[in-house]
Amino acid sequence: MRQLDGQVAVVTGAARGIGKCIAARLAGEGARTVILDFDEEAGALTEKELRGQGLEVLFVKTDVGSYASLEAAKDKTIEKYLKTDILVINAGISHRLRVEDITVEEWNRVLHINLNGSFYTVKAYYGEFLKKNGNNPGKIVFISSGSAITGTGGGCHYAASKAGQNGLMRAIAKELGPRGVNVNAIAPRVIMTDIFDHLYPTEESRKELLEKIPIGRFGLPGDVAEMVRFLVSPEASYVHGQIVLVDGGRTY
Ligand SMILES: NC(=O)c1ccc[n+]([C@@H]2O[C@H](COP(=O)([O-])OP(=O)(O)OC[C@H]3O[C@@H](n4cnc5c(N)ncnc54)[C@H](O)[C@@H]3O)[C@@H](O)[C@H]2O)c1
Repeated sequence: MRQLDGQVAVVTGAARGIGKCIAARLAGEGARTVILDFDEEAGALTEKELRGQGLEVLFVKTDVGSYASLEAAKDKTIEKYLKTDILVINAGISHRLRVEDITVEEWNRVLHINLNGSFYTVKAYYGEFLKKNGNNPGKIVFISSGSAITGTGGGCHYAASKAGQNGLMRAIAKELGPRGVNVNAIAPRVIMTDIFDHLYPTEESRKELLEKIPIGRFGLPGDVAEMVRFLVSPEASYVHGQIVLVDGGRTY
């Protein structure tokens, strides 16, 4: 028996990068896993790839910037799998810009996808978690960022959106804890994905960065996926309302 047999997981932004790795990890533990992403081509490819590995996954094209799109995704989740046990709020965008280069439109776009999108995701699936009780615990995990703590990594709009996500997580943890739902956030730093390639494009910038990471390597999507797997396990049931850094020791 695998750890998540019989459970249903939903992961946003799971067509690639960290989200894809999380979806594969949860599906590998037996969860029927719904992949939400607005990139139709990448989402369909990921669905095909993971199904090819014998995993039970379903891709639903979804824009987390649209509440209607998330409601439709929730309806498809319930139509196919009848319930939701695990929700991983991972979709996010990042641009490394200084204040003078951040237009009001750019500020609004990053806040909209990262923060409004997180709330829309919670709101669309919230009813599923209100049904939970201690015997059928649910789990919500936000993929935040160390940027909320340090102010580095993306622009100020990115750091602010991730700090907002942390506040949202803490408030939801207070509301859903009494129903037995664990709510936590993971704060990764320098995980090698498209965002990383975009933020640190040159050898020089990467060398400089590596020197700041005590463990001596960059993070991998699997490092984050493994923390998600732990947080959704019964062994983590007393971990609640926390922001867990996955950063190779860089921050503290
Ligand atoms: N990579 C890192 O070093 C790092 C560090 C800290 C935090 N994070 C966070 O981890 C999460 C995943 O990052 P990643 O590095 O895998 O990024 P990525 O760019 O590789 O993947 C992000 C995924 O989200 C999807 N997405 C973007 N906007 C969307 C929308 N409106 N609706 C639905 N899907 C959307 C993209 O299509 C993509 O598949 C993000 O929230 C990011 O802020 C990443």
